[in-house]
Amino acid sequence: MTQDEQKQAVAQAAADYVARHLPVGGLLGVGTGSTANLFIAALAPLKARIGGAVASSEATRARLEALGIPLVDLNAIERLALYVDGADEITPQLAMTKGGGGALTREKIVAQAADTFVCIADASKAVPMLGKFPLPVEVIPMAAGQVARQLALLGGKPKPRTDFTTDNGNVILDVCGLVIENPQMLETRINQIPGVVTNGLFALRGADVLLLGSETGVRTVARAP
Ligand code: 5RP
Repeated sequence: MTQDEQKQAVAQAAADYVARHLPVGGLLGVGTGSTANLFIAALAPLKARIGGAVASSEATRARLEALGIPLVDLNAIERLALYVDGADEITPQLAMTKGGGGALTREKIVAQAADTFVCIADASKAVPMLGKFPLPVEVIPMAAGQVARQLALLGGKPKPRTDFTTDNGNVILDVCGLVIENPQMLETRINQIPGVVTNGLFALRGADVLLLGSETGVRTVARAP
């Protein structure tokens, strides 16, 4: 299968997962990106099952709305049964780098509220160690220069994402060159820099299930207990 075919296959596998695991009327969190968009399209036949969805970006909100899936304000609920989203990189331990599409902060918020995080990814996203994909860091605009200096002290080479503002009105620094041997520790460390809203490491709350594309089909990987 090509990369696009793998994205389509994992999106359909995630819709099948929703059909099997989401209780009727249950609440679903929905991610952002090209793989998540295919997942949203695959949700059409399941509309009646979904009690409500929380979107991780304005783009996803618009797609869910167009499909007629009821949107729910995260402040109005306690927990979501499932969250389905893509990733830029994912390790065998199911730690991820996310934020290639710039929606990392809302994605992390929604993921945190979910009982089960299902990651959907084509084979190119599976890596033994995070760090080849530049780490996105969402930053309050007035702090961008200061945060960039701190990230350089951690060994990174931060580059402002051009012509891009997040849904929250902030900027993104894409950081190359980080050695991410301990993703949980680095996630915590970067989030402590004043001015950082969040960073794209999803290790403290990684995925629970990975639906991974391959040349021959979709493989299901569950996080080790
Ligand atoms: C958006 C994300 C996406 O999940 C990630 O960038 C993967 O996107 P795609 O499915 O288009 O490869 O984190 O902020």
